Amino acid sequence: MPYLLGIDIGTSGVKTVLYNEGGQALFSETASYPLHQPQNGWAEQDPADWWAAVCQTVSRVTGRVNARDIAGIGLSGQMHGLVLLDRDCEVLRPAILWCDQRTGAECRELTETVGADRLMDITANPALTGFTASKILWVKNHEPELFARGAHILLPKDYIRYRLTGVFATDMSDASGMQLLHVRERRWSEEVCAKIGLDMDLLPTLYESPEITGTVHDKAAALTGLAPGTPVAAGAGDNAAAAVGTGVVRDGESFTTIGTSGVVYAHTSSMALDPGGRVHTFCCAVPGQWHVMGVTQAAGLSLQWFRNQFCMAEVETASAMEVSPYALLDKQASLSPIGANRLLYLPYLMGERTPHLDPNCRGAFLGLSALHTKRDLLRAVMEGVSFSLRDCAEVLREMSVPLSGTRVCGGGGQSPLWRQMLADILNLPVTSFDSGPSLGVALLAGVGAGLYKSVPEACDRTVKAIDTQTPIADNAALYEQVYAVYRSAYPPLKDVFARLSVLP
Ligand code: XUL
Repeated sequence: MPYLLGIDIGTSGVKTVLYNEGGQALFSETASYPLHQPQNGWAEQDPADWWAAVCQTVSRVTGRVNARDIAGIGLSGQMHGLVLLDRDCEVLRPAILWCDQRTGAECRELTETVGADRLMDITANPALTGFTASKILWVKNHEPELFARGAHILLPKDYIRYRLTGVFATDMSDASGMQLLHVRERRWSEEVCAKIGLDMDLLPTLYESPEITGTVHDKAAALTGLAPGTPVAAGAGDNAAAAVGTGVVRDGESFTTIGTSGVVYAHTSSMALDPGGRVHTFCCAVPGQWHVMGVTQAAGLSLQWFRNQFCMAEVETASAMEVSPYALLDKQASLSPIGANRLLYLPYLMGERTPHLDPNCRGAFLGLSALHTKRDLLRAVMEGVSFSLRDCAEVLREMSVPLSGTRVCGGGGQSPLWRQMLADILNLPVTSFDSGPSLGVALLAGVGAGLYKSVPEACDRTVKAIDTQTPIADNAALYEQVYAVYRSAYPPLKDVFARLSVLP
């Protein structure tokens, strides 16, 4: 019986899952690591932590089966993160992550050097602080000695690929988020690289997501329990991977995820662009096709932040009851009414992409009163994240990208309360899946290993919905009123956020 292994290098931790050919999860292991924020708006991680978590989770899985039966490995990961290696392949500095906002000046530099229209023509997106190109420029501008020693640039999952196989490679979906790819032509852009003074030899080799990029070498096999020679597919950035894992591989299909970030994603067989660049246009994991997605920077991160700062008693109770702390937080939030007793939360803890493209904005509770309780604050956090996802959906609707329903995954998607909120706020049926990026990349590896003929065929044979929640008309009408107020909250605050961002 052939198995497939999916490894997802997330922002909060690694998730490694072993599947059978039918897409059934047999063993699942997770390991977490810290996110470092050396300054307000910065976000870094140590690639050594990712590798240690991969070794730990993979060996736990391989300890339970004959590793020779693993037909292929797929890699998924948080997108955009900059990993810089020297000539000896040693990591030169902590990875600068997707949610890091330090590169406002470098985005202006990139736009001026390449030209705003040309950058849009080539990379399909405006310069954004989240993307890798501005991070590369930041290291060049602020750490020139380190930059001069750089010999390889990798994304998070591709650093793990290097540790497993010794190969420097990436896939089209993740490469799209580097802002160095010609997204329509699916090749590195000599023009952008030349204009920012980047030697193209530093970049990994490009593959379509199901292609095999290399095989596990002896040293990695010894550390992980994998069999030497196991094929490793190109895989995908976590959102393109989640699309495959929830079966979003054809026009008209979309998913919403509430992970650390939140995303509303739609598959497109031809390229669709928002002229304002409020949503991203990237290659997807189906060879030769694309996707568009709106991104909320701090989705699950908002609730995680609230839990860590204000809910330690619930965390302890949950641990004694052996349940997830989020189940207790859900219960509390469900006791507050729609609109959280007239309390709004803006989820801009790490700046915001869709729709504001503003690295300087920050989170806010608006309308706090002495009558509010923790329940209201919790509900406001969940609603604020959902309103931000509605902002993403609105941009897709403006672009005439069809959204007739959405599939939900990610940690937040496990909450029935949050799913119903999404159904009511997006006014769409919401179908839940307990699969995501790990299944997606395991299936890509299955296509690469010849177990399935194509990505859509792999999805049709394996991906299964759990249930569908439909909008409740009365709730949707109430949320519509609250959303109108939410939507009006950011514009007058924009200047306040800008002034706050330059305070000492
Ligand atoms: C997408 C993005 C995030 C990360 C989180 O553009 O930055 O969704 O991929 O893992």
